[in-house]
Amino acid sequence: MLRELMLAAIIALPAGAQAAKPVRTMTLTDLQCEYQQNPLGLDVHKPRLGWKLVSTRRDERQSAYHVVVASDEAKLLAGKGDLWDSGKVASDESVHVVYAGAPLKSRQRVWWRVRVWDDRGADSGWSAPATWEMGLLDRSDWRAKWIGRANVEDHKIAGPCPYLRKGFEAAKPIAQARIYASALGVYQLFLNGKRVSDDVFRPGWTDYRKRIQYQTYDVTALLHQGANAIGMTVGDGWYCGHIAWAGRNCYGPVPQGLAELRIDYKDGTSETIVSDETWKESAGPILMSDMLEGEDYDARKEMTGWSAPGFDDSAWHSAEAQPIGDVPLVAQYDQPVRRTGLLHPITVSEKPQGSYIFDLGQNMVGWARLKVSGQAGQQVRIRYAEVLNPDGTIYTTNLRKARATDNYTLSGKGEEVYEPSFTFHGFRYVELTGYPGTPGKDAVEGVVAHTDAPHTNDFECSSPMVNQIQHNIVWGQKGNYLEVPTDCPQRDERLGWMGDAQIFVRTGAFNMNIARFMTKWTRDMEDAQSHEGGYSDVSPRMADPADGAPAWADAGMIVPWTIYLHYGDKRILETHYDSMKRYIGFIDSANPDHRWIHRSSHNFGDWLSIHANTPPDVLATAYFAYSTWIMQQTARVLGREDDTNKYRDLYMSIWDAFNQHYVDADGKITGDTQTCYVLPLAFGLLNEKRQAQAVEHLARNLEQHEWLLSTGFVGTGYLLPILSRYGRTDVAYRLLNNDRFPSWGYEIKNGATTIWERWDGWTTEKGFQDPGMNSFNHYAFGAVGEWMYHTVAGIDIDPEHPGFKHIVMRPQPGGGLSWAKDTYHSLYGPIISNWKLVSGRFEWAVAVPPNTTATVYVPTSDASSVTEGGKPAAHAEGVRFAGHESGFAVYKIGSGHYTFSAAEPAHAAAN
Ligand code: BGC
Repeated sequence: MLRELMLAAIIALPAGAQAAKPVRTMTLTDLQCEYQQNPLGLDVHKPRLGWKLVSTRRDERQSAYHVVVASDEAKLLAGKGDLWDSGKVASDESVHVVYAGAPLKSRQRVWWRVRVWDDRGADSGWSAPATWEMGLLDRSDWRAKWIGRANVEDHKIAGPCPYLRKGFEAAKPIAQARIYASALGVYQLFLNGKRVSDDVFRPGWTDYRKRIQYQTYDVTALLHQGANAIGMTVGDGWYCGHIAWAGRNCYGPVPQGLAELRIDYKDGTSETIVSDETWKESAGPILMSDMLEGEDYDARKEMTGWSAPGFDDSAWHSAEAQPIGDVPLVAQYDQPVRRTGLLHPITVSEKPQGSYIFDLGQNMVGWARLKVSGQAGQQVRIRYAEVLNPDGTIYTTNLRKARATDNYTLSGKGEEVYEPSFTFHGFRYVELTGYPGTPGKDAVEGVVAHTDAPHTNDFECSSPMVNQIQHNIVWGQKGNYLEVPTDCPQRDERLGWMGDAQIFVRTGAFNMNIARFMTKWTRDMEDAQSHEGGYSDVSPRMADPADGAPAWADAGMIVPWTIYLHYGDKRILETHYDSMKRYIGFIDSANPDHRWIHRSSHNFGDWLSIHANTPPDVLATAYFAYSTWIMQQTARVLGREDDTNKYRDLYMSIWDAFNQHYVDADGKITGDTQTCYVLPLAFGLLNEKRQAQAVEHLARNLEQHEWLLSTGFVGTGYLLPILSRYGRTDVAYRLLNNDRFPSWGYEIKNGATTIWERWDGWTTEKGFQDPGMNSFNHYAFGAVGEWMYHTVAGIDIDPEHPGFKHIVMRPQPGGGLSWAKDTYHSLYGPIISNWKLVSGRFEWAVAVPPNTTATVYVPTSDASSVTEGGKPAAHAEGVRFAGHESGFAVYKIGSGHYTFSAAEPAHAAAN
């Protein structure tokens, strides 16, 4: 409307008059640098910038941008881009604009702003200023040493966590202060008695022999002129505590901390306080702390004021200091783990042995916060479990060797509140033993912790059970996206299993913005890659050296590719390009007949499938083809023509080998399982005739299984998308809605609040599965989420315009659903699809963010019935009819809010 008014105004200008400037209809918000607002401590030499457009107009597009980067705010506001002035660049890029200015130095802070023009030439005006700050870019910037306890007798046993401190004077008025810190272990930092940040388990988990992360904190507000003190506690963490079944000391013997406090004074001078032998060390209340075992804490040993100035540390020892060494110290790229929520018990029950069990109502990851009063020396034991035994006691057998217990000894000083510092547990139930008196419900709270990646997806529909599936997916993701994507959070495992991660990543990338998380983890994958080129089964690699497992190792290809598709992030492909090529070479060189037979020794097959056995070589060869296809696409996207051709040829050879060896004349695939059909269909390994045959075989197989799935981790991820892609959305809905065993619904009927590791984790007939491997919080089967978002709600990626620059909106109603809605928060802004079936019509509200476009597929049997905003859709503002496609009327739209309405599609009832 606005556009029409403006056009009318322009046309009405008297001849000779100057054309009026087009009216400004947009502003800029949410300036981002490397996916963050005003980040500190970057070590990315050419950071990428992005912004969001907010507009009142339909079809708002950016036609040009102008970025200015200055060395201080005054220069920026005066329009002096002394570091970079891009000038007006004709471009529709508003995410991942690469900084192309002067090289940046360690600790350098810069100010930037941007303005953009739309397609009519109207500009947005300058954005508000934003900043970023570099971290320590060179090893020579570091003067700190690793410090810890001297004379540790036996590092094979978990000992008390070292408390480290140093008092110092800040002689002059302070302008700003930063701490750069890390640990071999996990640390907490304090300044003048206060925690420096809420981050948990820093510096995070990497292969500490190859790369150690450091963090940067702005501590200006915690320091003052005069006497100050800095304190640090360090737990064993992944560095020297237990990992999985590998025992302790996977990376080193004892925990150590590293800190460098840089104070800039107002007079322009500066001073640096570094961790070294002048620090003091003492044991304290944390008697031992371990990720798998839990924590023992004696509150009687607390040392009030230990990290504040004036504390008497004369009884403390000098810290032992070690040189910084030569393992690269890199800035943390991903979000830290943080406390993200608090759960309150729904019931408390007393057990005969004097213990109490609290039910938090949700399988979660984190720890219990204990509230207790009693006498000094009384001890409360806190145990954790995901499920209960039939007699109501906690079921801990599936935790295997993980002790998963915290022990708290009271100080006796009134009400005491305790949370462990350096451990986490996966649980729904908390058992207290030894609690003085009778605990009220408020004696325990569940502190939820995970990598704090932003939540980006709100899916909901008319089926409470499907909503519970979504709930279970999200909670499984929260609990298992903790520092690295893990298989499970509770037993003695919690590893970065690659197969689980790759099958879930497409779902995970909808639910949270995981670009930073996966950017970090793909580096772990490359660190874990073998000399021969195989990606490891788990990343970070642990003691077990296995690599090259089909569908597991392939995460090294699939994860970067998915991050590229979801966020339009080419850099992740560039970064790992050579590593990805080495991986393809690793398989190719050992398998001259193009079936993946050799170098696939750890072939887990279609892990945890049920009543089906997919031949390992069929699965492996399909993945060899898929990874080669990704390599070819990656080469194409990065403009590497030779490689594009080379990998296309290789893909075709694998294609031939697959068809020759595994597909018979009737299109039957060796093994004849659901997964046997789903994988080649998903990876484009069949010609048209064979596709049709494969779909028939798949449907036959499902029918033989009474319309129940038999797929494991690998097949489940593709099953519903493939059914929909080949016209069997009806069957896909049937599987989703099912609550017979095995299904998501069956788990829910039996109380699941997260996705289970195994379809038969618990069954009415058999009770618990083998406790040797039975987690109730494994996200792999949650991979069904992506189908719910792109096929039920209808929000999907266009691989040719990744990152939702162009959006495919194609909901397929069915399964008895009367409505579904989803808001996905893309880098450009929210994408909304919200449909309902009302009185024979499909009513659909759509929103597309500025600077993106969408193709919308309105599901209807009668294209002439489609309206938008009450008008025939083909005449609506900003809506262009693009044709018919089996059961859909197709339109092209630009940004804005739209309301489509059409005669209900015939297939809504059939699906
Ligand atoms: C893990 C998995 C993993 C698998 C490999 C299990 O112990 O929990 O999720 O992918 O091993 O086979």
